[in-house]
This record gives sequence, C-alpha cells and structure tokens, in this order.
Amino acid sequence: MASVRQTDPGTRRHTTSVVYDLARSIRERDIITYEHCRRVAVYVNRLARHMGWSRRASRDLALAGLVHDLGKTWMQNALLHKESALSSDEREEMQRHPHIASCILRAYGAPEQLIEVVLHHHEAYDGHGYPDHLAGEDIPLGARLLTVADVFDAITSERPYKAALEVGDARARIAAGAGTHFDPAVVRAFLELLDANPEFRLPARVSPLPPRKAPHITWIRHDSFDH
Ligand SMILES: [Fe+2]
Repeated sequence: MASVRQTDPGTRRHTTSVVYDLARSIRERDIITYEHCRRVAVYVNRLARHMGWSRRASRDLALAGLVHDLGKTWMQNALLHKESALSSDEREEMQRHPHIASCILRAYGAPEQLIEVVLHHHEAYDGHGYPDHLAGEDIPLGARLLTVADVFDAITSERPYKAALEVGDARARIAAGAGTHFDPAVVRAFLELLDANPEFRLPARVSPLPPRKAPHITWIRHDSFDH
C-alpha cells in the first residue's frame, strides 16, 4: 500500500471531517500531544511532497499525521503525563496506542489506508518496532515517512523529562537510524529537505485548525499543512 490515497470526493470529505474532529478531541485531552500531531502533519506533508507525492496524496498522509497519536488520549493521566521514564509495564501499556487509534478510526469509517499508516507508525525498518514487527517494505510507505517526521518532532521538542535537541543533533540522530529505525530512502529525502530549508523546524505552538463551523469544502481547499 503506497500511500493514503482516497479518490472519491465524498470519502475524502468525510475523512477530513472525521480527522479534524478527532484532532480537536486530542487538543481537548492533551495539548502537548495535539501540537505534536499538528507539527508532524506539516513535516510529513513536506516530506511526501519532496519525495514526489501529489498534493492530494501528501495531504491525505498529513491527515494520518494529525491523528497518529490519537490512541494516547485513552491512556490514564498517570501514564500520559508522567514526567520520568516509563517502567516496562507502563511502556507496554503505552505501546497499545497505535492499535487503540486504529480501532477508533475504524469505528468512524476512516479509510483502511489511513488506519494502516497510523497503526504502523512505530514499526522500525529492521523489524524491531511495534505493534507487528513489520520490516522493510512490508511497512506501509506512508508509515515509513510518518515515522521519520514523528521522531524528528519528538527529539526536537522539549519535555519535562528531556531537553530538545538542536536541529543539527536531530539531523545526526535521524541519519544514524537509516536502515535500522528508518527506511534509508526516506531518510535521504528528509535530510535533503532539512538541509535545503534552514527554517524547517516549526515553533512549538502551531496555528489552530479551522473552526468547526466552516463548511467542509473550505477545509479541503485550505492547505493547513503547508505552513
Ligand atoms: Fe506514537
């Protein structure tokens, strides 16, 4: 499955509406997870465009980015807001979040391609990831892009338990993960993009989603992932 492609306009409208509503629910639950998802959506959109994906396919992938950590909203506060390293039991619980997100998205009628990308965003290229230990090209391509965007944002963001890496250090970390954590071809494209755009990294706070009352067609035309 190459990308999160949806061709039927009615399906795309429904998907956009559902994803935006679920993204708002993430914002209500946990602003840190929401802002992470917003930045990852922008990063993965830029990466897909750089890799030659169409505007439409890139934006569809960005929708997966916008809700990729939706499953974390079902974690208990003690786990979601924990300010120190997780125990192995806690890590195991937290690692259920892609599966939980896939269940929620399926219940709302999201397309399977989008669900697959969200479900597999923690797989690793050499098979050491989760939930299914997929490796190489068995991991949906969209998920391989999302993984790089996700990790870049995670390591360049400050958390109570860790400092943010500078872009140069983050670049080195991503480069070092090529072939083990990440698809080498995706890493190559990401580093090209990063090197060509000194302002690539987004500020911690990102612009809000369009208001709920806006007609759906406006949301689809409004390219909110390009900034
Ligand atoms: Fe995640």
